Amino acid sequence: MITLFKNIKQLVNVREQNELLRGKSLASLPTLTNAWLLVEDDRITDYGPMDSIPENLELVKQIVDVSGCFILPAWCDSHTHIVFAATREEEFVDKINGLGYAEIAAKGGGILNSANKVAAASEDELFASAWNRLEQIAKTGTGAVEIKSGYGLTTESELKMLRVIKKLKEKSNLSIKATFLGAHTYPQQYKNNHQGYIDLIKNEMLPVIAKENLADYVDVFCEDGFFSPEETMEVCTAAKQFGIKTKLHANQLHCSGGVQAGVNLDAVSVDHLESMDEDAIEELSKSNTIGTLLPSAAFFLRMNYPPARKLVEAGAAIALATDFNPGSSPSGNMNLVLSLACIQMRMLPEEAINAATINGAYAMELEKEVGSIRKGKLANLIITKPVSTLAYLPYSFGENWIERVMIKGEFV
Ligand code: NIG
Ligand code: FE
Repeated sequence: MITLFKNIKQLVNVREQNELLRGKSLASLPTLTNAWLLVEDDRITDYGPMDSIPENLELVKQIVDVSGCFILPAWCDSHTHIVFAATREEEFVDKINGLGYAEIAAKGGGILNSANKVAAASEDELFASAWNRLEQIAKTGTGAVEIKSGYGLTTESELKMLRVIKKLKEKSNLSIKATFLGAHTYPQQYKNNHQGYIDLIKNEMLPVIAKENLADYVDVFCEDGFFSPEETMEVCTAAKQFGIKTKLHANQLHCSGGVQAGVNLDAVSVDHLESMDEDAIEELSKSNTIGTLLPSAAFFLRMNYPPARKLVEAGAAIALATDFNPGSSPSGNMNLVLSLACIQMRMLPEEAINAATINGAYAMELEKEVGSIRKGKLANLIITKPVSTLAYLPYSFGENWIERVMIKGEFV
């Protein structure tokens, strides 16, 4: 199947080379004005300016005239928890009524609430609801996504979640990476026996996960009251011995050493970063680790946003993701994340688009396949409605400016 898009107002994020963007380079978003783009089967095969449009179009099955419209690479959402059994809007109402995190947890809420629901759900039920969420995020422009376990917290339930993610990988058109987040919180029976749970992760969960190839990454919620930096290091070092790299939940609620632990572990990314001091900013900026910002979680929890400008100025590599989960970000809409990044964190539209595409791809080590317009990459595309400028996209928050989405060469 060959598809030709013609009269593209602007082809966005056109890059002949892959490069992780850090600091000032995030603001440079290469585009091609008045362009055509050729898609063969699941790949981008060629593009160029309209005055060089191919003349021999016999093999082209469909020609799509997109006058007035932009084409962007589909979003790369590098941090989600979309396998869960039930939403948690009762906690949402509790929070509106003024209850704090600890009070909600005491009422049986929070991560342990989701873990109880996952324990009671079958693999098929979890698959079906996660599949619906994947379809939903594809419609809003996401073409690649990382999905975490972490609502299991027992060997059986963690493996159940990871097997669901494996099945999603096999059946979905989206590019998917799986992350083992067994260290999301301590289960009730290990509240006073942290080492017991860490040993369970190391000796029981990780060996099976590695043997069945169920995880691309390991993640730990490194936070006061959850896993300390030392405990985080222990879990991730054990995973490393199985060849599994680290991505961390770091510096969300407190400046609690998560970023430093991630950098020491040579983590692919450290995610959240709402609570950063100068040392953490500097350490991250000097490292190869990507800082992934999740502004919709800060929005939903009414927290301070991550210091995106300071991070960019210090030269850090920044990605943007949704954190789609039932507790702190019940939305997988990257378009909203883009708007929040620009409006609340003062990222420029160009910086935000780069962070949500090519840098998001790097945060999943999928940069060879997705994240920019490049010959040979997957044809994962967002085709906009006719819009005035690229800045209009984050500006018009809440509006649907997407006309169509293509994933692996197929329209969603
Ligand atoms: O990324 N911070 C830790 N974990 C999730 C949310 C946990 C939950 O409440 O379900 C997050 O925000
Ligand atoms: Fe998260």
